[in-house]
Amino acid sequence: MQQTFESAVANVWQAAWDRGEVEALETLVSDDYLRVSKSSGKAANLSQLQGEILAIREAFPDLVTTVDAVVVDGTSAAIFWTSTGTHTAPFMGVPATGRQVQTRGSNFVTIEAGRIKQETVTWDGSELLQSLGIRHLGDALGEADGGVVVDSLSDEPDLEVMKGFNRQFVTGVTVVTTKEGGVPKGLAVNAYASVSLEPPLVMVCIQKTSSTYPALFASTHLGINILSNEQKPTVSTFASKSADKFAEIDWHAGPHGSPLIDGSSAALEAEIRERFQAKTHTIFICRVRHAEVSETAPMVYQAGRFFDSEGLSQL
Ligand SMILES: Cc1cc2nc3c(=O)[nH]c(=O)nc-3n(C[C@H](O)[C@H](O)[C@H](O)COP(=O)(O)O)c2cc1C
Repeated sequence: MQQTFESAVANVWQAAWDRGEVEALETLVSDDYLRVSKSSGKAANLSQLQGEILAIREAFPDLVTTVDAVVVDGTSAAIFWTSTGTHTAPFMGVPATGRQVQTRGSNFVTIEAGRIKQETVTWDGSELLQSLGIRHLGDALGEADGGVVVDSLSDEPDLEVMKGFNRQFVTGVTVVTTKEGGVPKGLAVNAYASVSLEPPLVMVCIQKTSSTYPALFASTHLGINILSNEQKPTVSTFASKSADKFAEIDWHAGPHGSPLIDGSSAALEAEIRERFQAKTHTIFICRVRHAEVSETAPMVYQAGRFFDSEGLSQL
């Protein structure tokens, strides 16, 4: 007996999403199949969808999917589904959290000769992160605004202009620290800002490719050390990928264990309250729990160069 479109959808869905048999999709979709995400506005063909499914399965290997309903109306149909799974490997730059998620979506499809030709999905991978309680800067990135893509590349400045803009900004240099299995870890960071004094909130922005990032992401607390004029070698150490950056560094632990570097101009320990996903980076918003301020003058950083803040003339 020929299976109905409804049962074909349920069988192929489970084969692909629950068992990773992504080739099963070839029996359900047409050769020119296109899948459009309503939230990101992006389109994918079959092989891109297959890649996406395999990436999700790698991160959520125990995925179980239920097709809740398939409503067919002539040459179009709506598919409603629910998936559950445990986040056991990195996904979209987010290290494994061990948390279980349940996510729901609906796909509106057009059918041609019994196969799906085009599909509009109300869901994308970032919703899995949201289900994990990890916030995503979709709006700021122009990815989602009621399904409309609000930004376009054409009204963004050239990359070199943006780099030039950033070079005009003068900052200090910090070392952001944490511990991984009792081992101190850290990296040089100038994307630090004070957010508010009451309550005492600060933020740092960390590139997801940093080797310190998974440990930072998993930590409840982190340390932020403002480097002094006398710590130029410390910048090189923490801007490197060296395995044991603390080998030559004197430090002490904050009340919650975060490494605070001796000789810094100031150091604080803060509780991580939010981890906003911003594509290549994660913005950590932290509530300060402990701070130490010394008399040592801070180092100044601008356009790849370091300056002695005591040598600066006041305007
Ligand atoms: C002055 C300076 C500022 C930096 N600022 C940042 C920053 O704000 N965020 C970031 O992720 N990396 C920043 N970096 C780069 C990291 O320190 C660098 O990639 C480091 O090798 C990362 O080490 P890890 O991969 O061992 O964590 C900065 C480097 C320097 C020298």
